[in-house]
Amino acid sequence: MDKKIIYSGIQPTGLVTLGNYIGALSNWLKLQDNDEYQCIFSIADLHSLTVRQVPSEFRNRALSFFAQYLACGLDPQKNIMYFQSHVHEHAELTWILNCITYIGEASRMTQFKEKSQKHPDNINMGLMDYPVLMAADILLYNTSLVPVGVDQKQHLEIARDLAARFNNAYSPTFTVPEPYISKVGAKIMSLQNPLAKMSKSDSNLNATISILDSQDDIMRKFKRAVTDSDNEIRIGEDKPGITNLITIYACSKGISVEDAVKELQGLSYAALKEAVGVSVVDLLAPIKSRYDELIKDKDGLLAIAKAGQEQASSIARKTLRKVYKKVGLVQL
Ligand code: TRP
Repeated sequence: MDKKIIYSGIQPTGLVTLGNYIGALSNWLKLQDNDEYQCIFSIADLHSLTVRQVPSEFRNRALSFFAQYLACGLDPQKNIMYFQSHVHEHAELTWILNCITYIGEASRMTQFKEKSQKHPDNINMGLMDYPVLMAADILLYNTSLVPVGVDQKQHLEIARDLAARFNNAYSPTFTVPEPYISKVGAKIMSLQNPLAKMSKSDSNLNATISILDSQDDIMRKFKRAVTDSDNEIRIGEDKPGITNLITIYACSKGISVEDAVKELQGLSYAALKEAVGVSVVDLLAPIKSRYDELIKDKDGLLAIAKAGQEQASSIARKTLRKVYKKVGLVQL
């Protein structure tokens, strides 16, 4: 396999949002048809256990995330798509990497500190180990590129450090991954606070659009979107709310921001919100109907997950065997 590996995981928590779709998924749809790359996508379910989950809800949500990825058009024939927990090598490589990770570096991670503050009654080992498991995800597959937002940059740094540390201590084994910065993929902001990114775990449901929201919900949320008090439709740092709406419109229609501004020029804010809402409804309608079909057929979904697990395992198994040998474990 000479193709460059791109690896990304998503935790099955919160919602798959319009921001995920425009910012990441739509870009991956292009990559799956690009011969230079092989993409691997996992549902990072083991990561989500660092926060307490209700088992029955968690199971359904994980399967729903998988179906939503498929409904967005990610093709399991072109990408490797699987659940992290179905490939036991992730947990095993985590252990080996744990033994070369310093408590100091793990406890300095911003996300560890933030989550410890947020859940002071559940500061568990897994929370601190989170970036090591993520490093294992990435390093098992000879990954060259990892698409990361700012919040995961530090974790990718740890993955790079661990890869280099292992390679130095033993011999060259892991590819040291680089961040993948996409050229297109616009950043979509919260509808209620356009200075913050639209977050899949925002507790204010008016701030985010789920890709499965009904037409009515979508229109209502755009109607309530925070804007400003002049009446000018243009992009600009001084107009984060309107800029966000114009960006969403442009991405939903697949046109440039400049063309979007031209089309929307002269509308009232109410009419602007209506137009943006309709563009998003049109974008998401086919995704939602594909999702409805997929989620009805649980056996079909599990068969796709099983095929993904087999592909992922065959790579992960080889990497882990090499690693076990290099650290001096007895081979049978
Ligand atoms: N930690 C990532 C997040 O919350 C999800 C993730 C898990 C991931 N494993 C990964 C991302 C490997 C990239 C590569 O966003």
